[in-house]
Amino acid sequence: MSVVASPFEQSMESVTLWIQSLLFFIFIIATLYVVDTLIISNRLTTDYQNIQLKKQPHLPLRFRSDGTFKILQVADMHYGNGIVTRCRDVLESEFNYCSDLNTTHFLRKMIHIEKPDLIVFTGDNIFGSSATDAAESLFEVFAPAIESGIPWAAVLGNHDQESTMTREELMSFISLMDYSVSQTFPMDPMKQLPMTNIDGFGNYNLEVRGAPGSYLSNSSVLNLYFLDSGDRAIVDGVRTYNWIRESQLSWLRGLSKRFQGQWKLTDQSLEIPPLNPALAFFHIPIPEIRQGPIKDIVGTYREYVACSLVNSGVLKTFISMRDVKAFFIGHDHNNDYCGNLEGMWFCYGGGFGYHGYGVAGWPRRARVIQAELGKGKEVWMGMEKIRTWKRLDDGVLTKFDEQVLWDIHSSR
Ligand SMILES: *[C@@H]1O[C@H](CO)[C@@H](O)[C@H](O)[C@H]1NC(C)=O
Ligand SMILES: *[C@@H]1O[C@H](CO)[C@@H](O)[C@H](O)[C@H]1NC(C)=O
Repeated sequence: MSVVASPFEQSMESVTLWIQSLLFFIFIIATLYVVDTLIISNRLTTDYQNIQLKKQPHLPLRFRSDGTFKILQVADMHYGNGIVTRCRDVLESEFNYCSDLNTTHFLRKMIHIEKPDLIVFTGDNIFGSSATDAAESLFEVFAPAIESGIPWAAVLGNHDQESTMTREELMSFISLMDYSVSQTFPMDPMKQLPMTNIDGFGNYNLEVRGAPGSYLSNSSVLNLYFLDSGDRAIVDGVRTYNWIRESQLSWLRGLSKRFQGQWKLTDQSLEIPPLNPALAFFHIPIPEIRQGPIKDIVGTYREYVACSLVNSGVLKTFISMRDVKAFFIGHDHNNDYCGNLEGMWFCYGGGFGYHGYGVAGWPRRARVIQAELGKGKEVWMGMEKIRTWKRLDDGVLTKFDEQVLWDIHSSR
């Protein structure tokens, strides 16, 4: 038996080696191919047919067939960075287990129990100085609204822009988020172009159509006005809050006149209200609230009204427009009341977010507004009533302070 391999044996061995290498090479290629087609390429390529820039809510906004339209007002969520952002003003026993996620959870619960037709966020949605990345915080703070698929509208408070986005950037980002019906600028009804010459970002209006099948199903029967009340300002060297400017009020007056004209076009023989009512939403209270006297207070007034030193005539404008029946604000977390100023109702939403200041042991809260249609002989007609109530984040979502803000039968 020879120890040295014959040339024949040697060449056989190298052929075997060569085949083995080839098989191994094929195996590697095949593995790579499989990994690529099954895993990597799925992640790298986008199916262009499914690209959707924004998920649109079901529009137009419309009363339900039971004649109601329900709005959930969420004031002052003050969102920071989510789970790592601690709660303020909660009991010592609650502190260790409390973060922005409690705000998220409260919002989910409110949406679930009330099933609103629209969610309105009245500013200080994010607490800029605690939010490292404004976009991240916006995604988190509005997530429950987006998950629900319910249309939602937001305005800005005085803290939203303290992170990484300007007020204009925030509003345009918010208006592009899924199911958002927010707008940075109002639309010019004639030119169908955004009116960029109005002060602020987040002035817009939404129309709510009559019940399906009713003769008002194609008309707005309730108008919603959203206003940017700004952030801070310095007046004569004094630091104060900003205020709603004349350009915004003059846009509103024009809008309201246009809606009033709409009624002249409808059948005069029908029992229609003289104007379709409107509700307004913004963040910072107006100076008239601080000044008073406020009548018929329902709810808690436990905090000094933080408003601008400048009175730009918002109340006077609303009263003269005649369609605004109530306006809704935030900003003062420890005020949650409705009150009446010279015949005009206004309501605070009450502090919602756990990272916003509050009172330990006094639960965070939210407001609900329900608009109701009147019934004609058989079908739903125009607006008849505006009702409001609140709920607490107390474990059982206690409903309280229910009241009627407007009733066509007891108003002029
Ligand atoms: C915050 O959420 C946690 C987890 O759900 C809960 O245990 C805790 O009681 C909540 N805190 C408050 C103040 O609601
Ligand atoms: C509303 O508009 C739709 C579609 O244009 C039309 O079919 C319907 O008759 C209109 N309804 C009323 C009450 O005007």
